[in-house]
Amino acid sequence: MRDNLGMATQLAAQSLRFGWYFALNRLVDWRTGQLGLKSQYQPVRPMPPLSELLADQAQLLLSDALAVRDGLYPPIEDEAGSPVGHLLRVREMLTDLPSTARRRADRHVTTVKAEAAASAVPDYYAQDFHFQTGGYLSEGSARLYDMQVETLFMGAAGPMRRTALRPIAEFMHGCDQRQVTLLDIGCGTGRFLRQLRFAYPAIGLKGLDLSRAYLEEARRHLKPLRSAQLIQAAAEKMPLPDASTDIVTCIFLYHELPSDVRRQVTSEVARILRTDGLFVFLDSLQMGDRPAWDGLIEGFPARFHEPYYRGYAMEDLAGMFSAAGLCPGPASTAYLSKLLVCRKRGSDGQPRFRST
Ligand SMILES: C[S@@+](CC[C@H](N)C(=O)[O-])C[C@H]1O[C@@H](n2cnc3c(N)ncnc32)[C@H](O)[C@@H]1O
Repeated sequence: MRDNLGMATQLAAQSLRFGWYFALNRLVDWRTGQLGLKSQYQPVRPMPPLSELLADQAQLLLSDALAVRDGLYPPIEDEAGSPVGHLLRVREMLTDLPSTARRRADRHVTTVKAEAAASAVPDYYAQDFHFQTGGYLSEGSARLYDMQVETLFMGAAGPMRRTALRPIAEFMHGCDQRQVTLLDIGCGTGRFLRQLRFAYPAIGLKGLDLSRAYLEEARRHLKPLRSAQLIQAAAEKMPLPDASTDIVTCIFLYHELPSDVRRQVTSEVARILRTDGLFVFLDSLQMGDRPAWDGLIEGFPARFHEPYYRGYAMEDLAGMFSAAGLCPGPASTAYLSKLLVCRKRGSDGQPRFRST
């Protein structure tokens, strides 16, 4: 049965959310300009007008609401905590803004080194990604991350992540969720884990990330839902047995990894997946996915410290996944994201599709 009320509620909630984060996005832009610290980088490649971006974002919100109507997954449940807590985070983000913008202007990316955990993580990771204060290692950065990302994407980060729920719903069709294990690698503050827990209350859910502070935030986001097992480890060396996982999801991680680490993580995913298991990959658009938007891809690493993004933007993802024994289906794009779904090949080299 079609849930038209659910669809309408979802659309209304998402539109409000969009309006709020659009306003925050403009406020941050204005404040950065007032500080005289706006990025001056002008991409050579074509840039889309704002109207085209907004129209595409509206399309994303509509297809999310249609998926809710069709019962593919539940409405978005993104916010944990009180409205007052939310407003306090807005204030904290605006207070942090001058130092973040100053670091961007100075290309300074080493505040993370002051964190005690910095000596225990790989060098490629110990940097101030996005010019965040404390990189991925400080509690303050973990507290502000979602607010900063949603402000940047005008509320579209959650809906983009949710496009990864569709292939999972197709895979899960006819499965007993109590028998299924799902691992989200680079789970960060657990926004996607939360969506998964709402959709699949009984699934064996795990999240893995290198940052203890982000995992603590994920723990908070999952409350009061049934918890997930949260593992602090590197995705290129996962403390999990071979063929132990049915579904691996990976959202907005690969663009932050050096090329060799991307390959190691891919081999690890193939190792821990069961034969015929599902790998759901979602990350940024790549160069050429939408040629008229290539200027966005070009300009992104200039505005945000993303040392491996240019390499990611040119990466042959399907070739890399195939080489590791993961059989990729066709890629699709939604707004600024790209989705690739793979099945782990059997020992005869062929995927044995179960339900999709
Ligand atoms: C851009 S954030 C994305 C987080 C989350 N998936 C989301 O959708 O918001 C990247 C995350 O990957 C984690 N990360 C980066 N490199 C990692 C690695 N080698 N192993 C595990 N986690 C890593 C970071 O700590 C951060 O939480």
